[in-house]
Amino acid sequence: MAQLLTLQGGKPLEGTVKVRGAKNLVPKAMVASLLGSEPSQLRNVPEIKDVDIVTSLLTIHGVKVDADPATGDLTLDPRQAYSAEHSEVDAHAGDSRIPILFCGPLMHKTGEAFIPDLGGCRIGDRPIDYHLEVLRTFGAVVDKGPTGIHISAPKGLHGVKLDLPYPSVGATEQVLLTAVLAEGITELKNAAVEPEIHDLIAVLQQMGAIITVYTDRTIRIEGVTKLGGYKHRAIPDRNESASWASAALVTRGDIYVQGAVQRDLSAFLNTYRKIGGEFSVDDDGIRFWHAGGTLKPLVLETDVHPGFMTDWQQPMVVALTQAEGVSIVHETVYEERFGFTEALQRMGASIQLHRECLGSNPCRFGQRNFLHSAVISGASELRGTDIDVPDLRGGFSHLIAAMAAQGTSRVTGIEIINRGYEKFVDKITGLGADVELSRV
Ligand code: EPZ
Repeated sequence: MAQLLTLQGGKPLEGTVKVRGAKNLVPKAMVASLLGSEPSQLRNVPEIKDVDIVTSLLTIHGVKVDADPATGDLTLDPRQAYSAEHSEVDAHAGDSRIPILFCGPLMHKTGEAFIPDLGGCRIGDRPIDYHLEVLRTFGAVVDKGPTGIHISAPKGLHGVKLDLPYPSVGATEQVLLTAVLAEGITELKNAAVEPEIHDLIAVLQQMGAIITVYTDRTIRIEGVTKLGGYKHRAIPDRNESASWASAALVTRGDIYVQGAVQRDLSAFLNTYRKIGGEFSVDDDGIRFWHAGGTLKPLVLETDVHPGFMTDWQQPMVVALTQAEGVSIVHETVYEERFGFTEALQRMGASIQLHRECLGSNPCRFGQRNFLHSAVISGASELRGTDIDVPDLRGGFSHLIAAMAAQGTSRVTGIEIINRGYEKFVDKITGLGADVELSRV
């Protein structure tokens, strides 16, 4: 039976929420443990679906995973790792995109990897061509079959020179997880340099890898012959933090996000201040609140780090529906990340989507017929409505809008939100939202 969340909006969210390890780091650090010859320990692990999926995938490959959900401590022992049955990989991969990152570690560990057709959020085409090209360059043989991709390295994996067409987070992680045990030196140009990439590098360095990050998006990896385990506390989830910050603004509330880190949210905090949000930072987190009065409109473009992250765009668009005047948002990372605005329009927001690039950042989508720019006119009074969640960030943004709206919203498809927001129903309830969870 599916879950239905019924929300009565119009109440400011107030109180404290705790944010644990980043969804976009923890599963990758778990995959990295496969490369070691000793057990690893990961701390600050949240209870989210992506962690469950990777736990299952590691387990069917012979990695012993022990979790203590209360403390968030995870022990991963790869010493008995082996190849899994293709049907089992298929059954456990769920709708995650993480399986593609098993390729390098599995080839090093067992000589081969099988990757089923991938899922992930419906926010664009989300191809894996960079990943496959990277793996081929290292010397892997890629065979596409009817149910997935079989990858092997009959002649071993060798260090290479690579230049990514775009600073893809996943492709950069693919290179790191493959190059650390490849023979020789790998040089990657145009790499992603998100904080989660630096945290993965910290994990790999603890295991014995030799990795240098240069200021021009170049990463140099000197292959070693053996890696050990790691003991690491995962970087906190900056995307969840930004979502709570937007929730405070939209509901005219006041939320202390325990675990939020200023350094990783720099571009977000600048924007938050420009729109009229207030924040104060201490050693344990960041307090976000609405200062009263009206919010100011903005011109905003998403970008790779250190720019304004695409995962912050959706909650920020909800906040912009409450700003007095016209805002423009140009999405340059994913071509179809405005699908969630359809529900906001039904709630009373005024949002027009455009195919043109309404911004100056170089963008891959301008001449390709994608509705990737938004013009938002505010402030709009939002009304509750029925919503079926389209994707992770869009879904949480719908909840934010519903909590600010007048009247009742009935939200289905909330299972998607569990992929990245730990115990979000308990958290919004704790902040004073009027919600009821039922089965339909
Ligand atoms: C990661 O996705 C995150 N997911 C995304 O988080 C995040 O939005 C994204 O990085 C950008 O920061 C995880 O870490 C699990 P990319 P990833 O490769 O690695 C194109 C969230 O809500 N591309 O940096 O898959 C791609 O289509 C999410 O938490 C190719 O063309 O993103 C996109 O336009 C969703 N070919 C761009 O690159 C490829 O082979 C950036 O994607 C790979 C990517």
